[in-house]
Amino acid sequence: MVRFITFEGGDGSGKSTQLRLLAEYLSTRGRQVVCTREPGGTNLGKMIRRVLLEAGDEKISPETELFLYLADRAQHVREVVTPALGAGKIVLCDRFTDSTLAYQGYGRGVDLRILEQLNRMASGGVAPDLTFLLDCSPELGLSRTAARMETQKPGGRREDRFERKEHAFHDRVRSGFLELARNDAKRVRLLDAARSIADLHAEIRAIVEPAL
Ligand code: ADP
Ligand code: TYD
Repeated sequence: MVRFITFEGGDGSGKSTQLRLLAEYLSTRGRQVVCTREPGGTNLGKMIRRVLLEAGDEKISPETELFLYLADRAQHVREVVTPALGAGKIVLCDRFTDSTLAYQGYGRGVDLRILEQLNRMASGGVAPDLTFLLDCSPELGLSRTAARMETQKPGGRREDRFERKEHAFHDRVRSGFLELARNDAKRVRLLDAARSIADLHAEIRAIVEPAL
């Protein structure tokens, strides 16, 4: 039975949009749903998220960055995810352990086997039953987040460390996610994120409904 569902993919691939639509759908079907995210799913996590996203040009070593994401996860799993699952709720989470493998592992070059162990420790062994990987080119994702920023704050562009990172990094992250999907095809469902919001939602619904 599917209880813990995560959404993964590059920045701007449409994870939060699809998470929200699935949550609305499940709620109308009478399911109790908890929507959450990493980093920033707890109060402590929001502080960590600010440190990560607003570090500006401060140089953060890959290891420092990794431990901040892991600290966020350790708190998030124990404070939000495990209690919600224990109460019989469905948990939808925007990014989880696969993001650490893709960004810190494939993207930044931290050893994948070590990451798997640290992920297990941070998550206390809590693992998603189902993961949607929204795959699109980094260019498409970044153009969407640029458009989103324009709408939220016309004339100004919120520049954070991630959106300024070079394209090669985002390409490595994308290939990493694809490899993770290939290695765990039963859990990770690969979706072409260039399709329309409605099409993607319909496909996600069709996968989730029979699995509940
Ligand atoms: P993420 O959570 O992966 O960063 P969002 O869901 O916030 O992505 O989407 C980024 C922007 O792209 C939003 O403005 C959203 O409305 C838009 N968007 C999301 N999915 C699609 C899609 N399939 N087609 C076109 N635009 C999309
Ligand atoms: P966020 O705004 O949540 O992502 P998005 O732009 O997709 O909505 O930003 C979180 C950033 O943190 C994103 O660039 C991916 C990165 N990240 C990691 O590098 N490692 C991790 O373990 C997690 C959870 C996120």
